[in-house]
Amino acid sequence: MIESRKQDHIDICLKENVSAGSDYWNMIKFFHRAAPEIDMEDISTEISFLGKKISAPIVISAITGGYEGATDINDRISSAGEELNIPIGVGSQRPALENKELRDSYEVVAQHDIPLVFGNIGAPQLIEQKGKTAFTIEDCMEAMEMINGDYLAVHFNFLQEVIQPEGDDRAANLLKVLKEMAKEIPIIAKETGAGISYEMAGELKQAGVKAIDVGGMGGTSFSAVEYYRTKNSDQKELANLLWDWGIPTPISIIECRRAVDLPIISTGGIRNGLQAAKALALGADVVGIAGGVLPAANKSKEQLEIYINKVINELKVVMFLLGCKKVGELKNSRILLTGELRDWL
Ligand SMILES: Cc1cc2nc3c(=O)[nH]c(=O)nc-3n(C[C@H](O)[C@H](O)[C@H](O)COP(=O)(O)O)c2cc1C
Repeated sequence: MIESRKQDHIDICLKENVSAGSDYWNMIKFFHRAAPEIDMEDISTEISFLGKKISAPIVISAITGGYEGATDINDRISSAGEELNIPIGVGSQRPALENKELRDSYEVVAQHDIPLVFGNIGAPQLIEQKGKTAFTIEDCMEAMEMINGDYLAVHFNFLQEVIQPEGDDRAANLLKVLKEMAKEIPIIAKETGAGISYEMAGELKQAGVKAIDVGGMGGTSFSAVEYYRTKNSDQKELANLLWDWGIPTPISIIECRRAVDLPIISTGGIRNGLQAAKALALGADVVGIAGGVLPAANKSKEQLEIYINKVINELKVVMFLLGCKKVGELKNSRILLTGELRDWL
C-alpha cells in the first residue's frame, strides 16, 4: 500500500500538472546593476552550510524510496550529490522501517561520498495514529544509519494527510515529541508545500530543530497529487479546494528569517537559477529542488547533472548582473515584491 503510494506520487508528478496556481517568484524583481564591477570568473557559488563546504547553495530535496524503481532514482540523485558536491535528501523512510526488504532503495545513498545527507520521516508517524504505533527515537536512529545520514528531515505533510481517506490526522502533542527527539538526533523541520509561518518557526526553534526547510506553496502541490490519486469525488473536491493552500515560499522565507536565526532551506517551486537567486536574496541559506529535478532524475545521472549545472550557471549569471561575487552578497541586493506578495506582507 505505502510502496505503491510512493510510486503513484512519482508517476503523477511526471505525468500531470501538479503545480500550485501561481508563480510567486515572478512577482519578485531585482534592481539590475549596469556596471557589475566584478569578473564573471571571480564569482563563486561555494558556501558553508550546516558545517560543510558545498559547491552550490542547492539541495536535491526529498523525493523517494521504498519501492523497486526508487533505487535507481536515489542512486542517480546520490551520484549527482557526490559529483557536484551538494547535499541530498531521501524520501520518507517509513516503508523501510516497516519492511526491511525495502531498504536497498535507501541504502544505495550510503555508497556515495556526499557532503550532507538528509534522512526523512513524516511528523505524523512520530505520534500514535489510529491503529498505528509511533516511530521511536531508536527507529529514527536506524533510519539515519541506513543512509549514513547527517540530519533527519522531519516532514510536515498534514495537508496531504487530511485529504487522504485513511490519512494520519492526529497531531496533538507533536512538538513535545519532536523536542525529545531533537535532544538525540539533529533535526530539520521540513514542510512539503504549505510553508512555515513566523510563529511556527519560533515554536520549531523552541523544540530544538537545527534548521528549517520552509517547503512553501508555489511548486509541487500535494493537494494536486492527491487530486489525481483519488477516485472518490468528495475527496477530489476537497483536494481541488485546497490545491493552493499554504504560505507562498518567498513569504515563508521572510517569515522564518524574521523569526529565527536558524539555517533556512527554501524548497517550493524552485526550478531555475533566477528563482534560486531570489530565494537567497530574501534570506534563505540554500534552496531545495524536488519537482524540478524529478524528470531528469527519472532518466539518467547525466541528465540530472546537466539540469543542476544549468541552475548553477543561471545563478552565477544573475549574481554577475547584481555585482555579487559571493552567494551571501545576494542578501544585500535590492529587490521589489509585487502583486499578491505585497498583500501577504
Ligand atoms: C514525487 C515527490 C515525492 C516527494 N516525497 C517526499 C517525501 O517522501 N518526504 C518529504 O519530506 N518530501 C517529499 N516531497 C516534497 C518535496 O521534498 C518538496 O518539499 C516539495 O515537493 C516542494 O518542492 P518542489 O516545488 O521543488 O517540488 C516529494 C516531492 C515530490 C515531487
